[in-house]
Amino acid sequence: MERRQFRAPRGIRDVLPEEIPAWRLLEDTARRLALLRGYREIRPALLEEVELFTRSVGEVTDIVQKEMFTLQKGDSVLALRPEGTAGIVRAYLEAGYAQAAPLQRLFHIGPMFRYERPQKGRERMFTQFDVEVVGSLDPRLDAEIIHLAASFFEALGLTGLEVRVNSMGDGDDRARWREALREFLRPTIAEHCELCRERFERNVLRVLDCKNPRCKELNAGAPTILGFLSEANRAHFESVQKLLVGLARTVVVDAGIVRGLDYYTRTVFEIHAPALGARSALCGGGRYDHLVHELGGPELGAVGFAVGFTGTLLVLRELGLLGAVRERSVEVFVASAGEGLDEEVFRLAEELRAAGLSTVYDVEARSLKAQMKLAGKAEHAFAVVLGGDELQRGTVQLKDLAKGEQRELARAELVATLRATQA
Ligand code: HAM
Repeated sequence: MERRQFRAPRGIRDVLPEEIPAWRLLEDTARRLALLRGYREIRPALLEEVELFTRSVGEVTDIVQKEMFTLQKGDSVLALRPEGTAGIVRAYLEAGYAQAAPLQRLFHIGPMFRYERPQKGRERMFTQFDVEVVGSLDPRLDAEIIHLAASFFEALGLTGLEVRVNSMGDGDDRARWREALREFLRPTIAEHCELCRERFERNVLRVLDCKNPRCKELNAGAPTILGFLSEANRAHFESVQKLLVGLARTVVVDAGIVRGLDYYTRTVFEIHAPALGARSALCGGGRYDHLVHELGGPELGAVGFAVGFTGTLLVLRELGLLGAVRERSVEVFVASAGEGLDEEVFRLAEELRAAGLSTVYDVEARSLKAQMKLAGKAEHAFAVVLGGDELQRGTVQLKDLAKGEQRELARAELVATLRATQA
């Protein structure tokens, strides 16, 4: 068979060691902010039954109709999770939280999969920081969630982002809005794309997700939910906004936000980075007060959001905010001065590692000069030089690479000396 080199599948990227410090920054920031607010980490399954997503995200949505990676094994059809909320609610119910401790603040960081057309900020495998509070209808939680999402970006140094909020209504007001939307679209529906025509019949709200320029033109001026909100839902929406204003947070009401997933009720929001252009949402979320019930549990309110790392990193990079993020270098480089010392170098390196000092050593039989040059370039803090003479004397040479100072010391004192520099 002919030799060939493989590439990662289209829209799927490796995160290389050079990029890890930036990723760690995002992960650490996410974790810190979530833990501070009492969220506990959950790591739900990567594969779920396809039906979990058709029932929660919705059968007539881009995610389910076009974007799921599915696989069939035996009798089951599974999907690589395209989003985190459905799996978290499934895990919540399966764990028995609905009975034992219904209020759960949960977060997750991990990969999601969507068969999208790869473009700026959009990939087929991408990582989300997903945050969910299950078990309450309290509007303070909507505000807490929105504030947490915005705080995540601010902690990374991002400013100038727009927090856009809307209400999707619920129950009767949603039904009246849907009817008004159908009336509005009916005269032009024949001019829409085929998918819109299907959605008009099956789930009219999803007509508004269409990216086709002609359909977007025809959708302009469609009635928004805001004219239909019930008294209670309007009060909830106003309360969320008031709580955010109380935290000195600016939010813009954008009645155009309808999200692309069916489970939302009442509060929805997105955070946009205008620098990303048309698909500028770095983050999206909202309430989903019927999902727990739909998936077999009791009637319990819930609210959450997910941030995509791809877009976030892109914006951070464009604004030059990743410049100061550096890889942590290995502390000690063990160099050998002379032949026949391989085993000794190896033993010494492992001794230092066992003592908790990060250590590497030369395996390419370089000259001492070349080894020291390498050690300097890699920004190790210290080089420990082992030569035949030192071996006989039971000593090593310790070089502080930043200061350029070198001294000989007893091998028995090496660990304590290096540790003292760490304190
Ligand atoms: P979503 O709006 O579909 O919501 O995705 C949330 C975020 O994930 C987006 O704002 C975007 O930053 C990122 N994202 C989505 N697709 C891609 C992609 N193909 N490539 C890179 N980034 C992407 C949800 O997923 C909901 N589960 C959010 C939620 C949680 N709602 C309530 N709780």
